[in-house]
Amino acid sequence: MKIHPMFRIKTFSQLVSEADDSEKGLHRTLTSRGLIGLGIGAIIGAGLFSLTGIAAAENAGPAVTISFLIAAIGCGFAGLCYAEFAAMIPIAGSAYTYAYATMGELLAWIIGWDLVLEYALGAATVSVSWSRYLAEFLLKHNINPPLEFFCSPWEKLSLLNNTIIVDGGIINLPAILVIFVLSYVLMRGTKESASMNSLLVILKVAVVLVFIAVGFGYTDAANYTPYIPENTGVIGEFGWSGILRGAAVVFFAFIGFDAVSTAAQEAKQPQKSMPIGILGSLAICTLLYILFAHVLTGLVNYKDFIGDAKPVATAIGKTPYAWLQDTIIIAILAGYTSVMLVMLMGQSRVFFSMSRDGLLPSVFSKIHPKFRTPWITNLFFAGFVSLFSGFVPVSDLGHMVSIGTLFAFVLVCIGILVLRKTQPNLPRPFKTPWLPWVPILGIVVCLFMMLSLPGETWIRLAVWMGLGMAVYFGYGIKNSQMQKKSQDKLID
Ligand code: ALA
Repeated sequence: MKIHPMFRIKTFSQLVSEADDSEKGLHRTLTSRGLIGLGIGAIIGAGLFSLTGIAAAENAGPAVTISFLIAAIGCGFAGLCYAEFAAMIPIAGSAYTYAYATMGELLAWIIGWDLVLEYALGAATVSVSWSRYLAEFLLKHNINPPLEFFCSPWEKLSLLNNTIIVDGGIINLPAILVIFVLSYVLMRGTKESASMNSLLVILKVAVVLVFIAVGFGYTDAANYTPYIPENTGVIGEFGWSGILRGAAVVFFAFIGFDAVSTAAQEAKQPQKSMPIGILGSLAICTLLYILFAHVLTGLVNYKDFIGDAKPVATAIGKTPYAWLQDTIIIAILAGYTSVMLVMLMGQSRVFFSMSRDGLLPSVFSKIHPKFRTPWITNLFFAGFVSLFSGFVPVSDLGHMVSIGTLFAFVLVCIGILVLRKTQPNLPRPFKTPWLPWVPILGIVVCLFMMLSLPGETWIRLAVWMGLGMAVYFGYGIKNSQMQKKSQDKLID
């Protein structure tokens, strides 16, 4: 029976031989530790340092700790599925590559296109938050930059005690600048980027640990009563529905653990190091997040976090260590950098794989002769991401990132179920436990979180995907390497 080109599947041996193809390959330099660092580097960022207070104030109260736990469980299900794939198919490209081996070219394309939302827009979201902390820091030290250049049009900039300073800016220049600088670092090489990332991760984890250690002794038991504030009568405002809505909000804080899998082709002993990198970084962050949220809501009453996008600075002000505020803001600025670094790297690796497969023009998989990185892709995304960093409001960006990521998680969980059925005997160095329940629960939890996002986010997802379909049917389907291979076979 002849299969339609859009359902063609890459065989397992094809994938392995591609990974072994050293001519096209990337350098294998990353160890398990480096991968955990990469994961933590991508995970801890704007979600933790900005959204925890907001989710406590608007949705869950002190029980935001339970929201974190629920989001972590959802990510854990997806993480277990990612780990099985990443150990089995240790090739750049992550979920895109897995889909190519399980559900066919069209679905692979859909995931690859969707991952742009997670990685490229993820980097854009964090760059906007970065620029906000920078503006806050400058204003606090009586440096008054022209703030219309710190804010996109259609957005309000509220700083220093939440007063509105700019109502619709011109362009967010610092956000654009940071994206270009980091893209340049990436072009110079993975090893260099990984070393820089390790430093930033140490700094970022140190901030979280210092905050927990310093704050713990000053928490006030009264702030924990009631632990689960009564629902106001509106779904999502406190009570258990609030805890669930809070989980969807803080989900953003976990995004990034899957970015570890995009670097599979640069990992040493990927069969072992991939599951350790993915699940290890997720577990460490979950523990840190719950402790962090507990201390935060113990230091300040959850009601006082309304509209506060820098709760760490607010909370530390309640301790005798208020002088730490500046250091913490600087460390947060540095920490955000590593989120953007890993997101940008993940994005370039996914596009690298899609281009190598012929679904995108070959220029995206050109490797720099000296640095061995897909530098043209890095440059392209520096431009693409900066358009969003400079001109799109942060909340719209954040929602797009969440829906794109959740959609990818759902497809990866489905992929595990499909591959266990279609190819049960493939060597699996790491197996997702309790099948079929783990992937099924992963799908249910992620779909649930998707449903809690606003309607217009769904429309934007549909538009983005429609654009992707046009590119695939206009270009990819005809230029796919699989297409060329089948034609070669016919000629032979
Ligand atoms: N998890 C990343 C952050 O919170 C995306 O910034």
